[in-house]
Amino acid sequence: MKLFVNIKNLVQIRESSVKIVKGQSMAELPSMSNAWLSTEDGKITDFGSMNTLDESRFTNHDRIDCTGRLLLPCWIDSHTHIVFAGWRETEFVDRLKGLSYEEVAARGGGILNSARRMQEASEDELFDQAMERLQEVISQGTGAIEIKSGYGLTTDSELKMLRVIKRMKEHAPIPIKATFLGAHAIPAELKDSPDTYVDQVINEMLPKVVEEDLAEYVDAFCEKGYFSVEQTQRLLEAATRFGLKGKIHINQFNAIGGVKMCVEQSALSIDHLEVLTEEDLEALKESDVMPVALPSCSFFLGIPYTPARQIMDAGLPLTLATDYNPGSTPTGNMNFIVSLACIRMKMTPEEAINAATLNAAAALELSDEVGSITKGKRANLILTKPVSGIDFLPYHFGSNNIEQVYINGQKA
Ligand code: NIG
Ligand code: FE
Repeated sequence: MKLFVNIKNLVQIRESSVKIVKGQSMAELPSMSNAWLSTEDGKITDFGSMNTLDESRFTNHDRIDCTGRLLLPCWIDSHTHIVFAGWRETEFVDRLKGLSYEEVAARGGGILNSARRMQEASEDELFDQAMERLQEVISQGTGAIEIKSGYGLTTDSELKMLRVIKRMKEHAPIPIKATFLGAHAIPAELKDSPDTYVDQVINEMLPKVVEEDLAEYVDAFCEKGYFSVEQTQRLLEAATRFGLKGKIHINQFNAIGGVKMCVEQSALSIDHLEVLTEEDLEALKESDVMPVALPSCSFFLGIPYTPARQIMDAGLPLTLATDYNPGSTPTGNMNFIVSLACIRMKMTPEEAINAATLNAAAALELSDEVGSITKGKRANLILTKPVSGIDFLPYHFGSNNIEQVYINGQKA
């Protein structure tokens, strides 16, 4: 039981009915100054303005004086690949010397490099490495996360990754959603018959994933040289038959028509969108599909940023996530993502915070649990250091502005 008092600003207060903010309403971030908030059994129980606080109502509460500090809901990271067997800093240096991400991949680096190392890694090693990464991102304010497979690329290895994620769900203090990304890259031995691999993903892997209840979502890297729109559609159709929704990697390097197809297949989210055509935007306007931007991938690879302003001007919602993985984004720090979204995508702090909390929870179907300051939601909270206000958070990029993260009402 905790009672946070004298909160300079309690940020992102929402009625439970508000699950997504779109277009212009992304600029509004409902907050309360000089506030209090109470938690019990891991949940937010009540909050209000300090002049309404009757402290005699609270007995045995741990009282936290938040003078000068902000209290926000934790970040929600709806796109990560944090189960992997080792980093790829050698490829990073190759890119510094002039190779592109695609050229590194064509030489057998990239996803196929991680897949080779995945084959040899034990479940225990993978679990230990990934839990360490998870602990780190929790300390940076992440209060719910999605984790993908996709470095397996064989039935055994994909199932191994997903079992690791399942085990993480059992041990982690925050909600985790698992995504089956068997269609991440074509394995080298099948490069001349990609459809054989797609058939394997759909007919062999997917039923096993469902049978063992290993994933909530499916994903594919829909991109030139990876999986075509038609192959991705086949996967989505099969997934729908099993009741799994899609969260698809799309338009990272090329717009090949996948956005419209994902809209037609009622995907939950489409992620990346560094390239976006008018046609893509039009298709999105008629849908409930959540666009997800991954600005640290753009930063790290030196590719364009997702056109956030264009997306919001079209009246659409936007979510921000890290894409934490060893190749294109070796960080899971959501604070940096929020800064980058402001600095490079010209989102306002209000828009970026909405995209990294409320909308991000919707991108994981976790709106009833996390993503805002709402009675009954989990007390997954970020208490900042003394700061002037929310503008200071993205502005003071690269520094740690967080004093304490609370998960289920407990110090993380
Ligand atoms: O989202 N684009 C595809 N997949 C990952 C990168 C994976 C890797 O390089 O290991 C991404 O950027
Ligand atoms: Fe990704």
